[in-house]
Amino acid sequence: MRAVVLSVLLAPCLAAEPEVADFGKTVDGTAVQIYTLKNDKGITAKVMTRGATLVQLHTPDRSGGTDDVILGWDSVAGYESEDNQYFGCTTGRVCNRIAKGKFSLDGKDYTLAINNEPNHLHGGVERSLDKVVWKAKGYSNDRGHGVRFSYTSPDGEEGYPGKLSVKVTYFLAKDAPRLSITYVATTDKATPVNLTNHAYFNLGGAGSDTVLNHQLQLNADNYTPCDDTLIPTGDIATVDGTPLDFRKMKKIGARIEKLTDTAALGYDHNFVLNPKQDKDKTHNLAAVLRDPESGRTLRIMTQEPGIQFYSGNFLKGQQGKDGKTYAHRSALCLETQHFPDSVNHDNFPSTILEPGKEYRTSTLLIFGTFEKKKK
Ligand code: BGC
Repeated sequence: MRAVVLSVLLAPCLAAEPEVADFGKTVDGTAVQIYTLKNDKGITAKVMTRGATLVQLHTPDRSGGTDDVILGWDSVAGYESEDNQYFGCTTGRVCNRIAKGKFSLDGKDYTLAINNEPNHLHGGVERSLDKVVWKAKGYSNDRGHGVRFSYTSPDGEEGYPGKLSVKVTYFLAKDAPRLSITYVATTDKATPVNLTNHAYFNLGGAGSDTVLNHQLQLNADNYTPCDDTLIPTGDIATVDGTPLDFRKMKKIGARIEKLTDTAALGYDHNFVLNPKQDKDKTHNLAAVLRDPESGRTLRIMTQEPGIQFYSGNFLKGQQGKDGKTYAHRSALCLETQHFPDSVNHDNFPSTILEPGKEYRTSTLLIFGTFEKKKK
């Protein structure tokens, strides 16, 4: 009897921990590990310590086959190459753009690296969160398997004030097709923080030709219009009557050509999410993506106020995992976030984290399938 009680009590702690393996070394010789999370719903996610990056994400299609639905590489060298456009990484300290790399905080002016002329993009050049190697710990409990990444960014790293301690946790639910990504940060000086994941999805499998045949619905009546360098003007404008109206499910390719000759070169816009309908729910619905071919769906729920929909306009045919080619617009990003350049716009929700306060936010990726319409 005692043995039975004991094993019931211990069962959650005894669940097998996520498998960990060596993934190679960075150019400066730092070892990188990769963790595997698996569940009963046919989902496998692999995450590595360089950039707390999502490297693989296998999900079932409507006929029971499985594919890896995100772009990436088979080696650290791929991630370190010029071809890597933030594939799957944790992006920050501040994702998206900061105008001319400048902001003022508590009476002090700060200048950051310009890596996307004339602006600062995705946290900087050498020591942005996507490029550093994080500490990691795999764990399991009765709800599923997870990996906790942690990194402490010293005061002044990439020009940002404050020593910032960041934790990113990937958690794959045991009995639901759901991967959650939770971000927690604390600082010793006021500093801007805006963290996201930069996975590139193709629900037909990474390396499929295009995402223009995917359908998308965004829970957004408004977006933040930008100037020619993709910096928000500060306005919040309606999507009504524009190619950005995804309030009803729309094929991505249907109106994209109207945007090809704009500064965004396609979709590369921040959408302002409508307020959460159900106050009891922890997360707001942000996006639903569907691929009619494979039948896969992805629902994104978040605690963030915005989402950047980027249609892979800069993908250039680089070769990734399994020698597959990543053509122009063959994958898309749906980056949950605070609005771009918030640090320079007082009317946007604030991205400033104060000492003694905790930054905490999470986003859920929920996979599913849908049946083919009967003709
Ligand atoms: C931005 C794009 C940029 C891409 C870089 C996206 O988050 O919105 O403008 O080119 O990241 O990979």
